[in-house]
Amino acid sequence: MEKIVALCKRRGFIFPASEIYGGIANTYDYGHHGVLLKNNVIAQWWKAMIQERDDIVALDSAIIQHPRTWEASGHLEGFTDPLVDCRSCKLRFRADHIEEERAGDGHPEVRCGRAPSKLPGDYPECDLTEARAFNLMFETTIGPVKDAASTVYLRPETAQGIFLDFKTTLQWARRKPPFGIAQVGKSFRNEITPGNFIFRTLEFEQMEMEFFVPPDEVDSWHEYWLQERMDWYERLGLDRERLRLRPHGPEELSHYSNATSDIEYLYPIGWSELEGIANRGDFDLTQHAKYSGEKLEYVDTATQERYVPHVIEPAGGVGRTMLALLCDGYDEEEVEGRQRTVLRLHPQLAPVKVAVLPLVNRDGMPELAREIYEDLRGSVPAEYDDGGSIGRRYRRQDEIGTPWGVTVDGQTLDDRTVTLRDRDTLEQIRLPIDELGDELGRRLANPWRSPKLAA
Ligand code: GAP
Repeated sequence: MEKIVALCKRRGFIFPASEIYGGIANTYDYGHHGVLLKNNVIAQWWKAMIQERDDIVALDSAIIQHPRTWEASGHLEGFTDPLVDCRSCKLRFRADHIEEERAGDGHPEVRCGRAPSKLPGDYPECDLTEARAFNLMFETTIGPVKDAASTVYLRPETAQGIFLDFKTTLQWARRKPPFGIAQVGKSFRNEITPGNFIFRTLEFEQMEMEFFVPPDEVDSWHEYWLQERMDWYERLGLDRERLRLRPHGPEELSHYSNATSDIEYLYPIGWSELEGIANRGDFDLTQHAKYSGEKLEYVDTATQERYVPHVIEPAGGVGRTMLALLCDGYDEEEVEGRQRTVLRLHPQLAPVKVAVLPLVNRDGMPELAREIYEDLRGSVPAEYDDGGSIGRRYRRQDEIGTPWGVTVDGQTLDDRTVTLRDRDTLEQIRLPIDELGDELGRRLANPWRSPKLAA
């Protein structure tokens, strides 16, 4: 994990927020390459949810909703973590995580600050309080007066905005179950446990889809979405061996869930949740109908059949997907006696697809390289780099995961051919400048499998 964190900072992916003030707990900023990678992950999610199907529509609901939302959803009462404090080392832990770790189920976020290799309570000086419930929602107020009537909450999940807009969407989209509403956006949780980089942060982007189905079809749709979502992560290039499905035990289920399975990834901190896929039954629509007085049901105009749809919810995190991709893609190898670090990202996810590099900074090579770059960047995200030795520039591009490098050298000036270098195989071919665009387009459309896995 330390290597990933260092690379992310060095190459402008992700770094601590408010760093000049010493940072702020579990909060990170995304730099240029981080933003590009994040956008690509989100684009792949939308592609799978919207472009490749016709039974899901998009939504972007507000972060701050009517406060009754959270009464109805059960978050005001039930969205709590059981916390214990250590009176001695002053750290705060989640009681359930300590129990999991003791049971040998390996929860990596519970080390006591006094003795980093030990669990709280195993250290003689640890003096733990009783567990108490701590609500994870951030509160704020609307308007200038801070009182109970003006209290609102930053959403802890994007899902509730979808339930609030169920009726409107059903009307305008003219759908009938099974159909889904998908949303990507920020959620906020007052997490107190150490975050393990971007694994657990106070604000994070969720990719959530609520799939509304006839009640008697809910189990088969749950199975369907478990498979779909596993396949999606595999299509992003993640190692199947580092992905698993884990059903929740009854004590672990959220207050709204009838059944949940997590897709877990083997992060450097151990197997941990990447996405949760829940059967929420009719809990949310029924609750919001009760609290709002609106009828939230589906009525078949032909048969007059009416029912409250049940919901299957695949809920993933953008940050956790990025962390899995960074961990999976990170590789070190020796090439001709030199160590290189390379990020083997799926080319479709790589922040930059092609780097255009003049071999040296003279003889007209930079000018021609820039011309090629200007031409290519109309169709693929490209970078031009003429700073430092060619070896250094390749290393930099390897570390940000750029799948292809175009080099302009002496021969280019004579015959207008360039070399095209492959990040993974290091193979270089020579081709005319005019053929570059087509060749890159063809390579980008090809299926990709990490050579780490092939090996
Ligand atoms: N609507 C259901 C829901 O919110 P969740 O399992 O609490 O379920 C879904 O969250 C996903 O959101 C998680 O699988 C994870 O990827 C991401 N997530 C949740 N809390 C997070 C946090 N504090 N930091 C980063 N990602 C988080």
